[in-house]
Amino acid sequence: MYLGPFLMNDKTYYIETYGCQMNEYDSALVEGLLETEGYTKAPSPEGADVVLVNTCSVREKAEETAYEKLRNLQALKKAKPGMKLGMIGCMAENKKESVYARLPKLDLAVGPDHYEELPRLLGLSGRNTSVGTSRESVYEGAYAQAISGALAHVAVQRGCNFHCAYCIVPSTRGPEKSRSLHDVLEEVRRLAAKGVVEISLLGQTVNAYRAKDGSWIELLAAVSEVAGIERIRYTSPHPRYFTRPVVEAMARLPKVMPHVHLPVQSGSTPILKAMRRQYTRDHYLATIERLRELIPGAAVTTDIIAGFPGETLEDHEATLSLMEAVRFEQAYMFAYSPRPGTPSFGMAESIDAAEKQRRLAEIIELQHGHARQRLDESVGLTESVMLEGPSRREASEWIGKTPQSRKVIVAPGEGARAGQILPVKVTARRGTVLWGEVAR
Ligand code: 5AD
Ligand code: SF4
Repeated sequence: MYLGPFLMNDKTYYIETYGCQMNEYDSALVEGLLETEGYTKAPSPEGADVVLVNTCSVREKAEETAYEKLRNLQALKKAKPGMKLGMIGCMAENKKESVYARLPKLDLAVGPDHYEELPRLLGLSGRNTSVGTSRESVYEGAYAQAISGALAHVAVQRGCNFHCAYCIVPSTRGPEKSRSLHDVLEEVRRLAAKGVVEISLLGQTVNAYRAKDGSWIELLAAVSEVAGIERIRYTSPHPRYFTRPVVEAMARLPKVMPHVHLPVQSGSTPILKAMRRQYTRDHYLATIERLRELIPGAAVTTDIIAGFPGETLEDHEATLSLMEAVRFEQAYMFAYSPRPGTPSFGMAESIDAAEKQRRLAEIIELQHGHARQRLDESVGLTESVMLEGPSRREASEWIGKTPQSRKVIVAPGEGARAGQILPVKVTARRGTVLWGEVAR
């Protein structure tokens, strides 16, 4: 069979990914783009022809990790002078002025809105590649999705129009843009045809989705109608758009899972105001109350920042009391990290590093207790568990998830396959995972 000249290539690539799920998704997209050009994936960066690092700018530490990685990768070019070394992702946008001075052997730095330029910058044909990450064509031709067995991510929305005081994302990923409902549905149908059972819709402010041909609620309803798709999740919504009609839509669409990742950041209204979050503590709590009223048992996870400039002990305690009121299932918890170029960068920090860490530790400890309490709520119940894959520890054991995203270990017996949904009687919690038996 004649495959065309662009497939006659024995070159290899390697991509290292840091940061959020959108970065994971984008790396899969770039992999697809390179594979269209005939490249194959290398098991490690040593010897690969193209090595890319997909970076994150959200905290200073993430940027330092990426610099260190790239500094080390520069050494590989001594052994293989033809190798192309590139930085992609948020840092490539954020540091585009200074990155070549810090990394003299870097060949390219391409931010998240410009991946359509990658083939040209790598000296490839670009013939078959309309990766479509430009502002006009928000991801029209996705090549690959981050698929792990029966689960797939689909980016539906990118960028952000909020300007939270601490956040670099609006400058690295630009303003909000939504992919058309038509394109999203085509991709979801294609994935369903390949055996995907669970779809996770991705966006920086995913529920801000509004395309010419559909709203966020219409998108949830339309994906629900795709045959073969049994479970729908999404991340991350913004509390400001988490309105009553959205909760009502979730409640009447059984495929939309009862789990919401709703970043709160702080439990103090004055700090939320300084963060420019556009909601108050009471508004957030009312949203959660409505969610639990319409969808009993819904799980809520969140993001929390400790030590924002101006945070008093009273503000910190307000965060702890909000956590007590909600009892989050899980949380990503961070110490505030000042990011150059963000509105809060110049704001005087009110507490020293040790106090910031102390507050963070207190938040983490409280959260760990809540996480255990939430998991314990499943013990003794029969949950509908979707199998994701065999556990690494023991061949007969599989890892699955309840509708609330609680992780369950179960031995489903012969013929088990990823994507299968089984009734599982949860018998115990060990640490942060549940254990169960198939209910027959
Ligand atoms: N410092 C600490 N945490 C931050 N986040 C975003 N910006 C910062 C910052 N400057 C956190 C927020 C956000 C998550 C993705 O990262 O909690 O929701
Ligand atoms: Fe990091 Fe935000 Fe960029 Fe994701 S969008 S990689 S979290 S800076």
